[in-house]
Amino acid sequence: MAPAKLLVDIHTHVYLPRYANMLRARSSVPKIMTTLIDGKEQDRLLILDHEPSGGRPVGPQYWDRDQKLAFMDRHGIDVSVVSTANPWLDFLPASQAHELALELNADLEQYCSTGPDMTDSSVKRLYGFGLLPLVPEITTTSLLEAVKQISEAPHLKGLIMGTRGVGKGLDDEALDPVWAAIEAAGLVVFLHPHYGVDGKAWGDRDNGHVLPLALGFPFETTTAATRLILSGVFDRFPNLRLLLAHSGGALPQLSSRLASCIDHDPVVASRLKHDARYYLGKLYLDAVAYGPEELGFVSEVLSRANRYEAGSTLNEPADRKVGSKKVLFGTDHPFFPPLQSIEKWKSVVENLEAISSVQGWTEDEKDGVRGGNALSLFNIS
Ligand code: URA
Ligand code: ZN
Repeated sequence: MAPAKLLVDIHTHVYLPRYANMLRARSSVPKIMTTLIDGKEQDRLLILDHEPSGGRPVGPQYWDRDQKLAFMDRHGIDVSVVSTANPWLDFLPASQAHELALELNADLEQYCSTGPDMTDSSVKRLYGFGLLPLVPEITTTSLLEAVKQISEAPHLKGLIMGTRGVGKGLDDEALDPVWAAIEAAGLVVFLHPHYGVDGKAWGDRDNGHVLPLALGFPFETTTAATRLILSGVFDRFPNLRLLLAHSGGALPQLSSRLASCIDHDPVVASRLKHDARYYLGKLYLDAVAYGPEELGFVSEVLSRANRYEAGSTLNEPADRKVGSKKVLFGTDHPFFPPLQSIEKWKSVVENLEAISSVQGWTEDEKDGVRGGNALSLFNIS
């Protein structure tokens, strides 16, 4: 049995040693390279196209399990559901992506299964999201093999994916057998950005990584999730469980506008079974939003989905508690390290304070967001 009131981090990354070594051996982006900074050698991570500021510092916090556990201990995090960080296998040819996906899934299962248990409990401290070889020219058989491998790995509770699919995005009909297999296996899909949006929008001023990370990442997630809704994926696979990074980007804010645009568009108006806002009720959102007002808002938007089931009316009361049950604590570790060395990372403390300060959430609901919701979603007990 899981002890009551665990703190569970569902948005926390790793570059497994096999993956980090592969990045180190590369001469083009994505890569890890050693450069001289102020006369000292430093490893830098270059993963974005037109990577700003010569990349970001990278070190063992990205691959060393002991450092992940030390970070968890320092912040009171009991359990982490760890995922490979972007850009996953996106840049590899199909045969290499296939092989590496299977190897990395096996590595991640071992990373979790050989890690520590919670004291006096059968619950482990580490669980994981596996990977699919989602690249152009991959075969469906290969994708289904990876889904099967993940579903059979006791400590892998879902899979992380970017937004490109097999080259044409996630609304590509070629992915239907993959959604069907994921749904049947009960795996959670963690949808995470990498590419942002067209960098021309950011202008010439050097703003470091602020614009691609603060805006580009969530805009990318917004677009990908919206395209999924528009493709009718949730009508075909109603039990698919999709967890959106960074609290769903701008989708909660734009969902009524989306619904209205659909209703007024002759191409799309009769395509979906439900109002667009109904499909927001299919989503889970991480609580990586850094502010209580944002968390309160997104949970309200998820709460009202039941009002938009076919046949309901706007007077239908929103089921308030449903929304907070779909929001889950995350840190985005090891990204967003503090600029000065301090005991606790601001990115973690702020997300925890935000959960504690949401107006209108009961203590039970806050406990759920901190951990109980994750235990239920991932069936960890
Ligand atoms: N930056 C990244 O590249 N990935 C993350 O997950 C967070 C920040
Ligand atoms: Zn992340």
